[in-house]
Amino acid sequence: MAPHPDLAQSAFLQAVRGEPVSHTPVWFMRQAGRSLPEYLRLREGVGMLESCMRPDMVVEITMQPVRRYGVDAAIFFSDIVLPLKAVGVDLDIKPGVGPVVAQPVRTLADVEAIPDLTPDHVPFITEAVRGLVGELGGTPLIGFAGAPFTVASYLVEGGPSKDHARTKAMMFGAPDVWDALMRKIAGIAAAYLEVQVAAGASAVQLFDSWAGALTPGDYRASVMPHSARVLAAAGELGVPRIHFGVGTSNLLGLMGEAGADVVGVDWRTPLATAVPQVGDRAVQGNLDPTLVFAPTEVMTARAAEVIEAGRAARGHVFNLGHGVIPATDPDQLARLTEFVQTYPL
Ligand code: CP3
Repeated sequence: MAPHPDLAQSAFLQAVRGEPVSHTPVWFMRQAGRSLPEYLRLREGVGMLESCMRPDMVVEITMQPVRRYGVDAAIFFSDIVLPLKAVGVDLDIKPGVGPVVAQPVRTLADVEAIPDLTPDHVPFITEAVRGLVGELGGTPLIGFAGAPFTVASYLVEGGPSKDHARTKAMMFGAPDVWDALMRKIAGIAAAYLEVQVAAGASAVQLFDSWAGALTPGDYRASVMPHSARVLAAAGELGVPRIHFGVGTSNLLGLMGEAGADVVGVDWRTPLATAVPQVGDRAVQGNLDPTLVFAPTEVMTARAAEVIEAGRAARGHVFNLGHGVIPATDPDQLARLTEFVQTYPL
């Protein structure tokens, strides 16, 4: 199917390409789900991963924040562990906890037991993306995947972790197993992104949420080449690539060099500090997600500072510095969206 003609004028796609924009485009990480009452109603009695495998639900949940806020881009409703589930890894997403893996990956044999992903594993993703692209019209859809380090952390730890100790122990102490695992996940992520782009996604985001646990030296040597392979594969499909992590103030330059068109910045690093680090790339971010709990005029004053700082970058996509916090008042996000979209440039 040919791309919708209005996509060419999308402020989001213009900003990520570094072209002039009529307004600063805005979307929110975790805009779909959790904080929306219409989401919570729809999800009653349906498991998280089950909902990701039902195209009708994926389309509806992805559309909910687009209808409510009129954001400049949609983020595909799925999860970073969904492709692992699809190839047969025994895992679940536990409410309030996150992904839990039944048999953590520790040996080369464990890695080799994970199948590579083919489009036949995820026909429901193709169906959901096609349905969405039809409904979204001129609003671009952002596809996504988890980056090798962040996904490896769930596989090796068996669940969420603060310090990623077992994961980094494998990286430091068993480089052959680590290399095989990172290659395996990179291949799955690249194939998963290709399915989404082939079905009509306009851009992709690679989430390396937990990369901030690494020193620049370890990131460069043991993680960056694998993320770079995923980003290069997405680049060959011709779509812009966003690369995001949390607590990555000392990695922003490398995350750009890994092959990103846009570097996502969390709220701890002022954009004024981030922009020189990423060079001739666009930035995405980075309002502190807790500012939505402040009075509206406090929130919008800080949003204005973010927009002003973003002017120095090749392009700027407004976002929160991490995902929407579940207790967020949707009306406050609606006010924030309107403020950003009407802020004079
Ligand atoms: O709106 C969107 O962002 C789209 C959907 C999306 C989800 N997960 C849905 C989800 C996206 C882009 C993700 C990515 C994701 N998943 C990341 C990277 C982004 C980030 O936040 O740093 C990570 C690390 C995961 C792993 C994961 N899955 C976590 C940490 C959790 C939260 C656990 C919790 O409940 O506190 C999940 C579950 C999850 N993923 C939910 C949703 C809507 C909640 C599921 C539920 O309803 O119980």
